[in-house]
Amino acid sequence: MSENELNEEFEKVCLEAEVPTHMPKRVQVGGRGVLVAKQGGTVYAVDEFCPHKNRSMRYGILFDGEIICPHHHYHFDLETGRCKSRCAPVHTYEVRVIDGEVWIRP
Ligand code: FES
Repeated sequence: MSENELNEEFEKVCLEAEVPTHMPKRVQVGGRGVLVAKQGGTVYAVDEFCPHKNRSMRYGILFDGEIICPHHHYHFDLETGRCKSRCAPVHTYEVRVIDGEVWIRP
């Protein structure tokens, strides 16, 4: 992907070094709250709000490739957004990490 394509299609949201491994980092993408999460050396991005009761997962726990909603503890796969608890999936975003910068496609 060229630098132009990256600039046109993705938004730079933070530095990878700013993303902790034990909890998500909240950023804004296209006016929406998005959670950036690092697990196993990979950076993921999902919508901030839980599809179960539309509450923020900002203080959710990251474990084994999933984010666990702090409200009713539903688990969402960070890569696919799928929920193990009969809930709708959380929206996921395409992420690129380039030169230590995290870029997300809105
Ligand atoms: S609001 Fe997230 S599990 Fe209920």
